[in-house]
Amino acid sequence: QKQVATNITYQKSMIDKLDRMDTFVNRNQTGCTIWFTGLSCSGKTTISFALEEYLVKKRQISTYTLDGDNIRHGLNSNLGFTPEDRTENIRRIGEVSKLFADSGLVCLSSFISPYYADRQRVREIHEKSKLPFIEVYVKAPLEVCESRDVKGLYKKARSGLIKDFTAIHSKYEEPPSPEIVLETSKFTIDECIQKIIDYLEQNELIQ
Ligand code: PPS
Ligand code: MG
Repeated sequence: QKQVATNITYQKSMIDKLDRMDTFVNRNQTGCTIWFTGLSCSGKTTISFALEEYLVKKRQISTYTLDGDNIRHGLNSNLGFTPEDRTENIRRIGEVSKLFADSGLVCLSSFISPYYADRQRVREIHEKSKLPFIEVYVKAPLEVCESRDVKGLYKKARSGLIKDFTAIHSKYEEPPSPEIVLETSKFTIDECIQKIIDYLEQNELIQ
């Protein structure tokens, strides 16, 4: 039986998100989480890194990117790809994203995050804390993702070397109502990041 901590009380700081942001050189931003979901090789990492570069270099906006491949080397190195582990992966990252957004940063999180319920939970913890959560569905047909196969993982999955690969053996639940859909087989990376920038500006998350 797993032990869960008891006798823990929430401690509230004297400083909130706006106080923290007062220390920023550039105040033209609001802490929020931009959550990229999609199949392996759909373009999550490419788009989030391109957006991060644009926001930091061109707009002096403080950002931090959390990316599946990277986080699985550190914070979540004890997790694999069973349904339970994927759920725990997203739960932890959702909490970390919420903390980063609360610090005033634009947090860019790119994870396959294949399960609807897990993404909904991340959305809910943001909404509870009044932090904007923008779900971006990075959409590309499986055939296109498989033909890109940047890391050779689809090939390994087809040959049986990987047994729980997303969209081959393991389900991906499409987001029914994401804030933004990016069809990476139809638009360039620049067009895709422009669509996110437009959304952020229209919603006054960046100025
Ligand atoms: S998840 O489903 O959200 O928990 O996955 P995530 O943390 O984003 O990790 C996905 C990256 O791990 C590599 N990889 C796999 N992906 C899917 N299924 C299996 N079995 C698997 N094994 C390794 C792969 O590089 C994924 O990166 P992306 O950027 O999505 O291609
Ligand atoms: Mg990636």
